[in-house]
Amino acid sequence: DLTCLFLGQPLANPLMNASGVCCRTTTELDTLASSAAAAMVTKSCTLEPRTGNPEPRYSSLPLGSINSMGLPNEGYQYYLDYAERFDHERKLLFLSISGLTLDDNVEMIAAIREAVNPALLEVNLSCPNVPGKPQTGYDFEAMDELLDEVNDAYKRPFGVKLPPYFDISHFDAAAEVLNRYPRLAFVTCINSVGNGLVIDPDTESVVIKPKDGFGGLGGAYVLPTALANVNAFYRRCPDKQIIGCGGVQSGTEAFLHLLAGASLVQIGTALYEEGPAVFDRVLGELTAIMASKGYTSIDAFRGKLKTL
Ligand code: DHB
Repeated sequence: DLTCLFLGQPLANPLMNASGVCCRTTTELDTLASSAAAAMVTKSCTLEPRTGNPEPRYSSLPLGSINSMGLPNEGYQYYLDYAERFDHERKLLFLSISGLTLDDNVEMIAAIREAVNPALLEVNLSCPNVPGKPQTGYDFEAMDELLDEVNDAYKRPFGVKLPPYFDISHFDAAAEVLNRYPRLAFVTCINSVGNGLVIDPDTESVVIKPKDGFGGLGGAYVLPTALANVNAFYRRCPDKQIIGCGGVQSGTEAFLHLLAGASLVQIGTALYEEGPAVFDRVLGELTAIMASKGYTSIDAFRGKLKTL
């Protein structure tokens, strides 16, 4: 039994895509809608459409991926229209927004609030790839100001996508800001580990074009950082649900995210590499792990990470 509850809504299983992968066009979104995942999220959007950074802007690596897409997207209205037409009985749909300014975010939120059939709002505080735009999630004052505006403008439950943090004082400070907002109902940890640099020794060159090769890391590289962030916010935000993202390529990593406290688990790099069949494979593997341990429900182990 892989069923779970998210914000009171029952879901068939805890899997979904990570934003950015397979979710930019309606064709891709329809592919996700037909997959085994019980939830899905749209590509982070901006007020106006964007083509993003020059290519190559994604590279597949033995231990994961590096990307600097630069927010290519069709503009928020496109995703809001998709949400309005979406059969919300079929899957839980999240709409990710990543405004270039606070005013852009407020304008998008106002429109989403007015929608009849809206998706669950996720405010992305952590895009590392737009030149000249620092990540809001690394500036706690800016984060508080943005959440204050979102909280006022949007009268429904919403969530945030966080960047990875690496210092206990930053976990404390971020959680303290998040806990000021009771309608902030979920927290997605983590976005890519920002601004890594991958170098090919044969060509003596970087592997992606934007930003002289600097880009966000995903996949196996980031699993321990992802688990740390999931568990840090699970402990600090008892009234919120955590969505785990980072390094999930088999049932084992999905199991670890759930053990660390995640309510839902996202797949990014592995979805990019394998396509939506990845959800069937990971669900089968997770079922086998649970059976071998004698767990008959996710609730039997979720958040029950042992310490020494
Ligand atoms: C992009 C990357 C991110 O990690 C993100 O959160 C939003 C957008 C991008 O480069 O398109």
